Amino acid sequence: MANVKFFYGKTAPLEMHKVRVVQKLNLPPVEERLEHIKEAGNNTFLLLNKDVYLDMLTDSGVNAMSDKQVASMLEADDSYAGSATYTKLENKIRELFHKEYFLPAHQGRACESILSQVFVKEGQIVPMNYHFTTTKAHIQLNGGIVEEIITKDGLNITSDEPFKGNMDIGLLENLIAKNGADKIAFVRLEAGTNLIGGQPISLKNMKEVRSVCDKHGIMLVMDSSLLADNLYFIKTREAEYKDKSIRELNKEISDLCDIIYFSARKLGHARGGGIITNSKDAYMKMRELITLYEGFLTYGGMSVREIEALAIGLEETMDEDMISQGPLFTQYMVEKLVEAGVPVVTPAGGLGCHVDAMAFLDHVPQNEYPAGALASAMYIASGIRGMERGTVSEERNPDGSDHYANMELLRLALPRRVFTMSQIDYAVDRLKWLYENRKLIGGLEFVEEPKLLRFFFGKLTAKGDWQNKLVAKYKEDFGDSL
Ligand SMILES: Cc1ncc(COP(=O)(O)O)c(C=O)c1O
Repeated sequence: MANVKFFYGKTAPLEMHKVRVVQKLNLPPVEERLEHIKEAGNNTFLLLNKDVYLDMLTDSGVNAMSDKQVASMLEADDSYAGSATYTKLENKIRELFHKEYFLPAHQGRACESILSQVFVKEGQIVPMNYHFTTTKAHIQLNGGIVEEIITKDGLNITSDEPFKGNMDIGLLENLIAKNGADKIAFVRLEAGTNLIGGQPISLKNMKEVRSVCDKHGIMLVMDSSLLADNLYFIKTREAEYKDKSIRELNKEISDLCDIIYFSARKLGHARGGGIITNSKDAYMKMRELITLYEGFLTYGGMSVREIEALAIGLEETMDEDMISQGPLFTQYMVEKLVEAGVPVVTPAGGLGCHVDAMAFLDHVPQNEYPAGALASAMYIASGIRGMERGTVSEERNPDGSDHYANMELLRLALPRRVFTMSQIDYAVDRLKWLYENRKLIGGLEFVEEPKLLRFFFGKLTAKGDWQNKLVAKYKEDFGDSL
């Protein structure tokens, strides 16, 4: 995207690409939407995509590919070992990250599993700015303890702080002083912190974390799944780096890290993942687990077609026009909602728009899952599928009680280069309507609850009759309109 001045005076984001392949969408009538969400147990993961109008569940594996990516898939070298396609990716990674070793994996969580198995010992701590669901699960599964040491601003829903993903350096120092460096498995930085609204880390903060790690001989690992957004925010929000190219910034970040891992479902607009390092020792320790769980070292569970697309996608990530699309679309949506008084996470981050369900539904207590209720209501009102990022996405405490999330968010992800402005305007319109009618929305309770990662396939039911009342009000206000 480019921010362009329009004749009527405002500056607005303008696409630096055009759409050449489209997919037909379906918007079922509101009564059908009610049936679908009930069948899905009020869990948007369990909706069928054919019943969804705009799929804002995630930005994972659903970003639009470029013509060059799609074209590259046709020339993939389909061999189990020594594929030329793999060599292309390996060379591209060496060029962009300036690190020697690459381990391919089928997606981001596979990298987390391998890193945790190799580097986390029973009782060890992994300090991080903020957790991601699968990251925390893998660390805990290997006996590790997750310590979140985000700066105070990170947990303020509304703020002007441009880098809410920053780690609190004082807390990091204290944690090491209290437990000893030996008890720290590694420090993990998550670029573009997913669960608190896609908020970036500044390069200054990354450098400070690196120097603490150096002082104590601790390894620094970066989850770079959302690095593209973070690179854009460093370039545009951190004055010191405004004249650096994205390529230079990427190298500077990479130079700070011992290990970088990523989900290629996000970074590089393909499907897969990988671990990058300069340490032969770390590489050798992880290598056999790749062949055990993922596949041979020249594909790691990825299809060669995706590997071709990833090599191109990573190169395209160095283009500011490409990586600005997500953040600028998100900013557009966030600004419209703020103007309308709808509570959202500010400043706008990457990944999508995050609605503050705790403020939106201040009459729904946290034990009735306000973010889940809002996700259900949003689907009923619009056919748009968002994702609950609140208490439902947390694991229960060992005593069986709910572990309340710091934030109750309805995430409306904006997969990159997928939606149009009029679709964003539609989403904003339906959210405004829901906000006007928010007192009609009630809570949810579990009827089926898996032990691990319950948000993926748990089922909930509405407490009371609020969903029928919401549909009746919709019919009253919108008549026969979809
Ligand atoms: C920050 C972060 N880390 C790790 C993952 C896991 O990646 P994957 O979904 O490819 O397993 C994700 C996915 O959303 C993520 O956002």
